[in-house]
Amino acid sequence: MPGLLLGDVFPDFEADTTIGKIRFHDFLGSSWGILFSHPRDFTPVCTTELACAAKISDEFKKRGVKMIALSVDSVEDHRNWSKDVMAFNSEAGTALPFPIIADDKRALAVQLGMLDPDEIDKDGIPLTARCVFVIGPDKKLKLSILYPATTGRNFDELLRVIDSLQLTAQKKVATPVDWKPGDKVMVIPSLSEEEAAALFPNGVTTKEVPSGKKYLRYTQP
Ligand code: BEZ
Repeated sequence: MPGLLLGDVFPDFEADTTIGKIRFHDFLGSSWGILFSHPRDFTPVCTTELACAAKISDEFKKRGVKMIALSVDSVEDHRNWSKDVMAFNSEAGTALPFPIIADDKRALAVQLGMLDPDEIDKDGIPLTARCVFVIGPDKKLKLSILYPATTGRNFDELLRVIDSLQLTAQKKVATPVDWKPGDKVMVIPSLSEEEAAALFPNGVTTKEVPSGKKYLRYTQP
């Protein structure tokens, strides 16, 4: 992903989408955002992913996250493909609950480093990989994930990381392996014992380890 690092302001691009022309920062407003790219319309794995994203779109809404997809086909193709996606979900006739960006010139795919050199179309041009960008209300990149075209993503995992991102944006904690909302979290290493005691009224428990170092500190947020 050349040029775009965690903490960078996400590019404020203009694009044609299934809801008309957008400017990305205006589209986001003061919300969190998730942009997920797809190699191509009318492809099997992409269809299962979009269908899943549509099915759990209320979960993103609950978290205040605006969703937008991208693929390298036209708005017209996206509109037709959306009908297949909703029919796949047995919801034919219902609109896809988020827009799709038409990146048919691959301008954004290039700008955001999304091309997958292993997946080539019939004209020998690379397709987009399965990128995920989570953008905060400050328009800065909070998380990026890059999968090859041949591996579908897990959208429950995307909700889980958004829960972690939103919690850790508010509190001086970090979420351990396989954390889920409601589980204990870890106190970040930069906090002193005194600061941690003051910040976490539910208490801090420290796991003893052979080194004697007190870095495995848990609290209930
Ligand atoms: C798919 O969505 O099924 C797909 C797209 C491009 C390459 C491989 C799979």
